[in-house]
Amino acid sequence: MAEAPPGELQRRVDDLRRTVDRLNFEYFVLDQPSATDDEYDRLVRELRALEADHPELVDPDSPTQRVGATPQGGFAEVVHPRPMLSLSNVYSEDELRAWAARAARFAGDDPDAPSSLRFVTEAKVDGLAVALTYVDGRFDHGATRGDGLDGDDITANLRTIRSIPLRLHEVVGTTVPRVLEVRGEIYMRKADFAALNARLEGESGKTFMNPRNAAAGSLRQKDARVTASRPLRLVTYGIGHTEGGSPPPSHWQALALLRDLGFDASPDARRCATVAEVWEQCRAWQERRHEVPFEIDGVVVKVDDLRTQEEIGYVAREPRWATAYKFPAIQTTTVVEDIVVNVGRTGSLNPLARLRPVAIGGVTVSRATLHNEDEVARKDIRIGDTVVVQRAGDVIPQIVKVIEERRTGSEVPWVPPAVCPSCGTPSHREPGEAMRYCPNAACPDQLRQRIQHFVSRNAMDIAGLGEKLADRFVDLEMVADVADLYTLDWERVAGLERLGEKSAANLRASVEASKTRPLARLIFALGIRHVGEKAGRLLADRFGSLDAIGLASTEEIAAVRGIGGIVADSVHQFFQESRNRDLVAKLSRVGVRTVEEAGPRDAATGHLKGKSFVLTGRLANLTRPEAEARLRQAGAAVSGSVSKKTAFVVAGDEPGSKVERAEALKVPVIDEARLLALLAGRDVGEAITETTAEPGDPPHTAETPSGTGTAVGDGGGNRDAAD
Ligand code: IVH
Repeated sequence: MAEAPPGELQRRVDDLRRTVDRLNFEYFVLDQPSATDDEYDRLVRELRALEADHPELVDPDSPTQRVGATPQGGFAEVVHPRPMLSLSNVYSEDELRAWAARAARFAGDDPDAPSSLRFVTEAKVDGLAVALTYVDGRFDHGATRGDGLDGDDITANLRTIRSIPLRLHEVVGTTVPRVLEVRGEIYMRKADFAALNARLEGESGKTFMNPRNAAAGSLRQKDARVTASRPLRLVTYGIGHTEGGSPPPSHWQALALLRDLGFDASPDARRCATVAEVWEQCRAWQERRHEVPFEIDGVVVKVDDLRTQEEIGYVAREPRWATAYKFPAIQTTTVVEDIVVNVGRTGSLNPLARLRPVAIGGVTVSRATLHNEDEVARKDIRIGDTVVVQRAGDVIPQIVKVIEERRTGSEVPWVPPAVCPSCGTPSHREPGEAMRYCPNAACPDQLRQRIQHFVSRNAMDIAGLGEKLADRFVDLEMVADVADLYTLDWERVAGLERLGEKSAANLRASVEASKTRPLARLIFALGIRHVGEKAGRLLADRFGSLDAIGLASTEEIAAVRGIGGIVADSVHQFFQESRNRDLVAKLSRVGVRTVEEAGPRDAATGHLKGKSFVLTGRLANLTRPEAEARLRQAGAAVSGSVSKKTAFVVAGDEPGSKVERAEALKVPVIDEARLLALLAGRDVGEAITETTAEPGDPPHTAETPSGTGTAVGDGGGNRDAAD
């Protein structure tokens, strides 16, 4: 075949790219395909062939370049320039009205006049929140929500999703911000989910529980080629951070802009002038929730005007200007086939009902948590009973009640286990405690659970150590506690049946890598009762080492803002037990970092090292402890008073006299947006070089007494009061 002239070739390639992009948009965003699959495939094949023959024409944004070739090692961390918030819930019309009245109050509405607020309703799609950043119209990077402050960089995976434009569509007559962060939800349609499960069933026998889990599992793949093979979609519901241009003044207009830019943006959103209209929408969605092709678990209601949103403000990590109406749980009946006991990682003996499998809202349910033995007694649940079960959103199915009329007399009451079902040790229940425990620290089931927790992604993130392998280590007595993972006999591991050298080497590498995880993760990984990720972070920030936590009194721990009495008690108790202290010492001996040090995360943002910050006034997005913690994490010091050495004074709402003092001393005063930019490392800050502390200067005190801020009820949620 004769070679086409280069200009013509480029035109053909451009034309093909545009057509393929358009067909993707029609199919995945508009849901209105204008070509058959065959036609689409033919165009993609032609484009691929041309690009293969002419590598000089390859463009990273070509629709053929969505899948990168090489799997990534892990996910890098992305600090969200604006926190990704969660939503409060309302469950009834009354609660919805109460929410709207409160929002109106914060918006400064006259309580006697009709409310000025306008709302937008949209479906709450059950998937995973993501933030996609476009720079100069091109998809730059994307991240998971993570804990709301920082998430995982999943750019390579997101690029494979064809409802995500790699380049924004041109919009005539509108200036689109140069940096535009788009927020939305990655989800899977019900039919796509069913087809995927059918395929997986045939391939590996391993299927997903529900569309949400399928979406999460597919998005978190280290190999983007796997993600590319999964039917994921994006629906967008808002604009986050912007630079170089302002976002539209209302949510409704933001959605319209997103649509123009090529996104599927809350397609069924409605603008409502009254709460009655909002409620009508909630009812309408509830009625047709099963008719839509994806799972929704509620309706999100937002105040439309963005300026009013800011006036209404935030409580902790939730906006006061938005809420989610949650549909009532779906219920059905089934039979309790058995009641079994699971041993938790803290030794708790958890009763669990095995149910005759039943579908609830598209998910097959075969077990339900029974919480504890009092709950079983209170509801008088017996083996053989017909019961009402319900599933609400993500929550594990629950038994609502027994249908007593269905009893035949052959039902068997359940007796709490006198001995641990795993190790046979007599069980123990403290008076006043709801749970029964297995007191044996060496109980194999407890150990299994502790290992599972220790290696889990948000804890020490040791990849390659699944449930089965952990069980084998325990059964073969290769590990007696989590510290033993660091001194495994690797030859023996490689020799284990069905494992092999390569997997053993990979596992060894990830065990090694876990030695330098941040302290917060290690604290969480220890599995101390009531200590979640957040408490882990707070404890790490306050104490800086496991030893220091071990030496702290309950009162000292409880003085950490955000840590309550129960958690403090539990932490203190944990370190009172010699076997736990021994474990901590052993972890340190085998090389696990038990002291907070500048890790890779700090190095990435360590540009604030040596800079002293003073905070004053209320911030809109960060609580005071969050702001302080994040500054320290980036290497900065946080001081209570302004001096010439202060690098920046951060002023929120109603700042105190510190701003005047800063101005007098010519210390730069910045707002929260600039603070977030500095934290994210996107803004190096002119002034930062000017005010760098001299070598040898005494460090500014970073000590901020915990618990100084007074929580101010409604007006301030749990943000600190202004100083
Ligand atoms: S707005 C400012 N809108 O719900 C509030 N969230 O419970 C931030 N979600 O993390 C979210 N559909 O994953 C918003 N139309 C929608 C949504 C939505 C689903 C999810 C999102 C968020 C969670 C909050």
